[in-house]
Amino acid sequence: MIKDFKTLKNKTSFIFKNNKFETFPNIWLRDHVKNKENWDFKTNQRTTFTANIDLNIKIRKAKILENGKYIEILWSNEIKPVRYSYNFLKENSLKKKEIKKDLYYWKNTDIKNQIFMSYNHILTKKGFKNLLKKINKYGFAVVRNCSKDLNSVKKIAKKIGYVRNSIFGGLWTFESNNKKADSAYSNQELRPHTDSTYSNDAPGLQLLLCCKYKAKGGDSIMVDGFKLAEEIKKKNTSYFKTLTKTKVKGSYIGDGVRLEAERPIIKLNNKNNFDQISFNNYDRAPFRDTNQKTINFYKAIKLFDTLANHQKYQWRHILKPGELLIFNNWRVMHGRGAFSGIRKMAGCYINKEDFDSCCRINNIN
Ligand SMILES: [Fe+2]
Repeated sequence: MIKDFKTLKNKTSFIFKNNKFETFPNIWLRDHVKNKENWDFKTNQRTTFTANIDLNIKIRKAKILENGKYIEILWSNEIKPVRYSYNFLKENSLKKKEIKKDLYYWKNTDIKNQIFMSYNHILTKKGFKNLLKKINKYGFAVVRNCSKDLNSVKKIAKKIGYVRNSIFGGLWTFESNNKKADSAYSNQELRPHTDSTYSNDAPGLQLLLCCKYKAKGGDSIMVDGFKLAEEIKKKNTSYFKTLTKTKVKGSYIGDGVRLEAERPIIKLNNKNNFDQISFNNYDRAPFRDTNQKTINFYKAIKLFDTLANHQKYQWRHILKPGELLIFNNWRVMHGRGAFSGIRKMAGCYINKEDFDSCCRINNIN
């Protein structure tokens, strides 16, 4: 609750009932007024013309209301006072502790049956939330007992967001063949990688359903990229630095397109937490740096890719017909063992932002 306030030059300091205080710039406070003159409650959008606000705006009058639940401020050059709640100030405090995300960075032996779920369960509200929690925590999950066609892929994708369209289409089915210009369509072992390093906005989730399996081998491989990043950060800071700083170029050439993008293999967010893993040795395009940095880069990817191909970090599982693998392509690398025989798969991509939105709506951090 708000106990008192102090006006400073261009800023206001709020003293709370626990005797802690926080200072906010006046321009920031004025910019965040939510009343019918400044905010469209139907669209949840600001209507204030921020550029028209005086940068030196001052408090003319202020009073604390409802035992500190609100403060009412009349700004200079304005006629109508505006309200701010204690909760709003608290929510936007610089001292607010970051909510610890429920993430578990794993190696092979950490994954048992916790990632399996049944299709019928995820159709319930509780089950669906559980699925999101698992994808959030481990970076992947497997849904069992799905129909062996695109209907189940479509149904699950629609619950999360919408199917993303790409050069591979929206919803797709494929059997090993050489019609596409991509390694995913062959039956050689596919080493762990993330998809679309050539896209500025790589797909967030990939859904992969096994429709038919009359083959030998072809096990799906999952590797927690964040676990590798954590290991390298702990044991080899200079390689970690190289992997977080070197922008690697990816390209897709074929099927009438030429896509290119670049970003570091381990991308950090502004709080220095792991944000995105982008590693695809198949799609890496030529790029130059100084010769020393280039040599350092090769040393660093040697370590990264060696770990990614080590059984300690690989979860391997042969998907049975009706099993659907969902994974976060911004975190978990995927691969597939060599196989012979018939293996028919279906799937789709979902944007990362739509998965994040779905998690927020379901109160999953
Ligand atoms: Fe792939």
